[in-house]
Amino acid sequence: MTPRILVLHGVNLGMFGKRDPRHYGTQTLGDINARLAALAEELHVAVTVFQSDSEAEFVRRIHQAHEDGSSAVVVNAGAWTHYSYAIADALAILRIPIVEVHMSNVHAREPFRHHSVLSGVARGSVCGFGVDSYLLGLRAAVGQLEQE
Ligand code: DQA
Repeated sequence: MTPRILVLHGVNLGMFGKRDPRHYGTQTLGDINARLAALAEELHVAVTVFQSDSEAEFVRRIHQAHEDGSSAVVVNAGAWTHYSYAIADALAILRIPIVEVHMSNVHAREPFRHHSVLSGVARGSVCGFGVDSYLLGLRAAVGQLEQE
């Protein structure tokens, strides 16, 4: 069966391409999703993407991953990363590999970005490589599934 990877983009990430290019480059979320789709084809996995600026919708989409046959999750929760225990709790319910990604190097930025409340429920994190963070995150998720 083809593994199904759910890629979750959180708050403000629909604005990639318009946000500070120093941290986030110039590619739009659509461009990023197209790169993910191309890599998914190469890796023989199916990718589903979801973006929301609503924490409640985001949590509900995570809940849905229990029933929709998702094999792994790649998540960039944006600023929620740093404080949303609700999203951390929702992800903790999943029994599938979770990979955390960030476009920017959060550790080289403001102190509030240095801590992630999601890292504890993720198998690992990738940050600082722009769009490549997502592509490396997808490869990591597939690698985790191959090891299971
Ligand atoms: C981000 C980093 C977060 O600190 C920030 O709030 C974002 C984007 C990133 O991809 O680098 O919105 O998750």
